[in-house]
Amino acid sequence: MEFADKVVVVTGAGSGMGRAMVSEFIARGARVAALGRTLEKVEESVRLAGDPEKGKAFSVNVATESDVVRVIDEIIALWGRVDVLVNNAGVLDSYEPAHTVSLDAWQEVIAINLTGPFLMSKYVIPQMLEQGKGTIINIASLSSFSAAGGGSAYTASKHGVLGLTRQLCFEYGAKGIRVNAICPGATATPMALHGGTTEALPDMASGVMKTPAQRWCKPEEVARLTAFLAGGDADFVHGSAFVIDGGWLTAAREAF
Ligand SMILES: NC(=O)c1ccc[n+]([C@@H]2O[C@H](COP(=O)([O-])OP(=O)(O)OC[C@H]3O[C@@H](n4cnc5c(N)ncnc54)[C@H](O)[C@@H]3O)[C@@H](O)[C@H]2O)c1
Repeated sequence: MEFADKVVVVTGAGSGMGRAMVSEFIARGARVAALGRTLEKVEESVRLAGDPEKGKAFSVNVATESDVVRVIDEIIALWGRVDVLVNNAGVLDSYEPAHTVSLDAWQEVIAINLTGPFLMSKYVIPQMLEQGKGTIINIASLSSFSAAGGGSAYTASKHGVLGLTRQLCFEYGAKGIRVNAICPGATATPMALHGGTTEALPDMASGVMKTPAQRWCKPEEVARLTAFLAGGDADFVHGSAFVIDGGWLTAAREAF
């Protein structure tokens, strides 16, 4: 019940890691604002968490400033504070080589994966500053360090998320706001499993089996790391990028 008096905001909460985070934080006593584009999906995440009184679903596009302003206002009106923001919403791109990617396709991925975390942080930070405390966790990727986990837009956006994490740490760490990133490897969610959110996705299963862990990451494992980083035991952890990848980045025998 570590989070009993805490308010947690999770974006991209309608599936995958975000859905697991909603359950994890509610199980640890938090009130959780579950944000996603499709209201029914985030409502289902709250229902699956098993304590509906503790969760509230909100429909929001994290790339749309007016949506973000509205939803943060609604959460603060409802619960009066925001202790934890998890910028988890994200999309893959088409894996096309850069010279064939349309500007619209590039901008959509950057808008969701990079501008989204910026906007959410921008409008949550004033509340955290008023509280004198808060923590932001950005879900980055192995694509924050290396190429080939997507196309140019995905890789650039995830490198950018790490840069945003470090800059926010610099600007707000001494003001009580801890900011960190989590960099998952191949995780068994709708995004990464074959037949998932983009038709261009390569089959990662054989690469997964060649990592030291020889299996997919479970979304619940990312959710538990998120809860650790959000909690008091991580009070000294600022500006870090936590890799959770079964050893892929260090000792892969196959690239993405
Ligand atoms: N699955 C992996 O292997 C993997 C690896 C590294 C990083 N990641 C990152 O983890 C995060 C979670 O992804 P996941 O694997 O759980 O996939 P997922 O597709 O299940 O979840 C992503 C969620 O974000 C939501 N979303 C997309 N655009 C949005 C928008 N504009 N506004 C609000 N919500 C939006 C989607 O509806 C979806 O529910 C993403 O940022 C992704 O880039 C995933």
